[in-house]
Amino acid sequence: MDMIFIELQKHSDTPLYLQIYNQIKQDIIDGKFPVGMKLPSKRRLEEFLNVSQTTIEMAYDQLTAEGFIAAEPRKGYFVQAIEELAYVQPVKSEMPASVPTATPVQYDFSPGSIDTENFPFTAWRKYARDIMDTAHAHLLLLGDPHGDIELRQEIRRYLYHSRGVDCTPDQIIVGSGTEQLLPLIIRILGEQACYAIEDPGYLMTRHVFSENSRQMIPVAVDEDGLDVKALQRSNATIAYVTPSHQFPTGTVLTAARRTALLNWAATNPEFFIIEDDYDSEFRYRGRPIPSLQSMDKGENVIYLSTFTKSLMPSMRIAYMVLPPLLLDAYRQAFIPYSSSVPRIDQHILARFMADGQFSRHLNRMRKIYRRKMHVLTTLLRSYEPAISFSGDEAGMHVLLHVHTEATEKELIREALQSGIKVRGLETYRVTPAPSSPSFLIGFGGLSEEEINIAVPKLLEAWNIKKAAAPD
Ligand SMILES: Cc1ncc(COP(=O)(O)O)c(C=O)c1O
Repeated sequence: MDMIFIELQKHSDTPLYLQIYNQIKQDIIDGKFPVGMKLPSKRRLEEFLNVSQTTIEMAYDQLTAEGFIAAEPRKGYFVQAIEELAYVQPVKSEMPASVPTATPVQYDFSPGSIDTENFPFTAWRKYARDIMDTAHAHLLLLGDPHGDIELRQEIRRYLYHSRGVDCTPDQIIVGSGTEQLLPLIIRILGEQACYAIEDPGYLMTRHVFSENSRQMIPVAVDEDGLDVKALQRSNATIAYVTPSHQFPTGTVLTAARRTALLNWAATNPEFFIIEDDYDSEFRYRGRPIPSLQSMDKGENVIYLSTFTKSLMPSMRIAYMVLPPLLLDAYRQAFIPYSSSVPRIDQHILARFMADGQFSRHLNRMRKIYRRKMHVLTTLLRSYEPAISFSGDEAGMHVLLHVHTEATEKELIREALQSGIKVRGLETYRVTPAPSSPSFLIGFGGLSEEEINIAVPKLLEAWNIKKAAAPD
């Protein structure tokens, strides 16, 4: 089986590993998982369920210990014959004695979390109330499949002023998240397209390309961003990039490489760049990085962005700007489809933007995140040179490098034992690279106080001491 979907109750008293163990065990008993079926690898399941490696290991170890599954060296885990399971007792809710209790996660340095304390609830509520009125009864009916014009006009205005993106509202298509827009893009680009992806890079993009059976070529990222020379040497026809703030390394694609990338795309009318500008709003130092779309003369850039970081991930509103060349293909391919974003939400957001609340919110959040970044990096600096960090000019995470003999996996486990969750850079790589263990330290969802407690706790878990203060 490619993947197992398990609905995890993160706040339940039942530990996550036990929930996973229970569900797999039940599915085997019920015959949903036939004998001989291969389970997903621990690493893939860990990524898919967004849980720690220890959680999956404990679940699989327990299933193995009880004979539900067996490991075959270098092949994976396989479901065992049901006859051998006849003695199995009904699932007990308490934990098997042989399995150690997982320490609950107290501090999660997730790169995907945002600050929820400072959301402008009052303003949002006002627009929501205004929109939910009989005067807007027409919003109960279907709207424009590309997103209502009111929202597309606001997005156009915002993009023009903040990112230099020059487009008409017609070129903008609103959809429920980058992850939902990408499959649409790859459909109009055809089955023959071959995608260069950043390595390391955003897991969701890789997932979308592979689920849609698209060819992918990993292209290395260094301190100047994507290695454009390697891209030029490859057979790729489409380059997916995060040039303003590479995910996850945080590097900015240098001006020289931007030009080289655009020139590469201009060599062939079938070549395109997908520019994912997911968190460009939060830049703390230096001048804003111009979008590739604004530098493009040849209309080879598909610009993608989202409100996930700037407003909230749960709203599920993102948008893309299609070059005119692809717009017709898009219209033809998706004529029968309605917009994937509720009109009510579109109009609340359009009003929020039109009244200047969005800019106000961004300015406020930029200050809040800048302060959090400052707290984080000041703390980290006091532990140098045992550690170092990069990618602190923008966004909501930094990349922490630990100069040690230990492996990423070991350090992740040690952090978890202290109730801290961190994600290793290796997870985001296609091609393993020799480097010191590195971790994404996301701070968006933590308060300054929590950062002040969690960072020393993390470094203590790794036995890393503060550098002695100079005399
Ligand atoms: C590189 C990148 N692109 C896009 C997104 C946002 O995706 P979505 O709009 O589907 O929430 C993220 C996640 O926060 C991201 O890290």
